[in-house]
Amino acid sequence: MLARRQNWFESWRLFAVLSLALIVLSLWIAGMRQFEVDGVRMVIRFTARTSLLFFCLAFSAAALARLWPNAWTRWQRRNRRYLGVTFAASHGIHAVAIVCFAAMAPTDFMSATSAVSFIFGGVGYAFIVAMAATSFDRTAGAIGPRAWRILHLSGGYYLWFQFMVSFGKRVPDMPLYALFLVPLLAVMALRLIVMASARTPRTVPTG
Ligand code: HEM
Repeated sequence: MLARRQNWFESWRLFAVLSLALIVLSLWIAGMRQFEVDGVRMVIRFTARTSLLFFCLAFSAAALARLWPNAWTRWQRRNRRYLGVTFAASHGIHAVAIVCFAAMAPTDFMSATSAVSFIFGGVGYAFIVAMAATSFDRTAGAIGPRAWRILHLSGGYYLWFQFMVSFGKRVPDMPLYALFLVPLLAVMALRLIVMASARTPRTVPTG
């Protein structure tokens, strides 16, 4: 019974459960505003935040398991691929809501975006699609471990930067948005600590 229940929180089943929950919650949020533009904008903000959560879980998994090996961090590292693909699904819903927003209120959409946000957001989506597409054994094998590592590392850092800018630019108007930067800075700090400790040569006790 326990093993069966655990299976729902592992691997592709975990992805299925989380993605379904995201779809249901997004529909519920849009439905609270009768699927009008306000509800669609709430879904854009909701999925930006769920994307932040899953991005941070995936991007910190290896560092956390290294620094504090325990049942939770081992689960996180074991499932980081599925947490990463859940991040992509969350951003897929972000994209669908963006298209609905643009179609329903083109003038408001234009004033909420800019050429710069399209370029940086477009590059972000290109990384998300490429990273999600290479998150299967067969596709990862097809590009090889070196290309996979370069893609996933550069994509990870690019998306980290994009989150920092997207949340950070709202801080002057809404200071509480600074709270969204805390997990991002924590994740980067953890990765840097692990990188530094891997480079520091261990002192071998003598005598
Ligand atoms: C071309 C691609 C993209 C477009 C057109 C776009 C559009 C938007 C729009 C219009 C909003 C504001 C919604 C509102 O205030 O009602 C928004 C919010 C946001 N987006 Fe995107 N986005 C794009 C890609 C991305 C990517 C790749 C990321 C992150 C990796 C991202 C992260 C965010 C964040 C953090 C917010 C703020 C949410 C909040 O207020 O809590 N976006 N986006």
